[in-house]
Amino acid sequence: MEQTLVIIKPSAVHRGLIGDIISRFQNKGLTITGLKMMQLDEEILREHYSHLTEKPFFPSLLESMMATPVIVMCLEGIDAVEVVRLMTGATNGRKALPGTIRGDLSMSGQENIVHASDSVENGRIELARFFKPGEIFSYRPANLRFYYAPDEI
Ligand code: TYD
Repeated sequence: MEQTLVIIKPSAVHRGLIGDIISRFQNKGLTITGLKMMQLDEEILREHYSHLTEKPFFPSLLESMMATPVIVMCLEGIDAVEVVRLMTGATNGRKALPGTIRGDLSMSGQENIVHASDSVENGRIELARFFKPGEIFSYRPANLRFYYAPDEI
């Protein structure tokens, strides 16, 4: 099964949306195999957003991502990276389609509620960045049979 990283950002923590967001992923049928709250610092954010450090909005992004602790999650499922990106929606909440997390819950390009890995390779790198060895678990939910056909799992 594929794994991906989700960060529930301070915009969602401030607004009391942690439970709503976790429920969406669970209801979809993704398995939570890692979950914790942590405070991000500038060092980890410069690494995580290394493609954006030269952008004019980067200082504001840093401040936004350190405003509260965040929730980091490892989600597992067939094609988990693509499924979670589709559920997340476009970067700017005003452009994200209704039905997506950002489309339903965000009006902003920066305060956009969640981060989700954009490729399998980045998922692997990002999970190693935010989780220590032993913090991601392996188990098979008893109801998996009702989320996938036998030939899919
Ligand atoms: P990016 O990796 O481009 O998008 P995504 O989160 O959809 O993978 O950008 C990372 C974060 O940077 C984005 O979630 C919010 C912030 N950001 C801005 O605040 N303004 C912007 O114009 C862009 C492109 C991103």
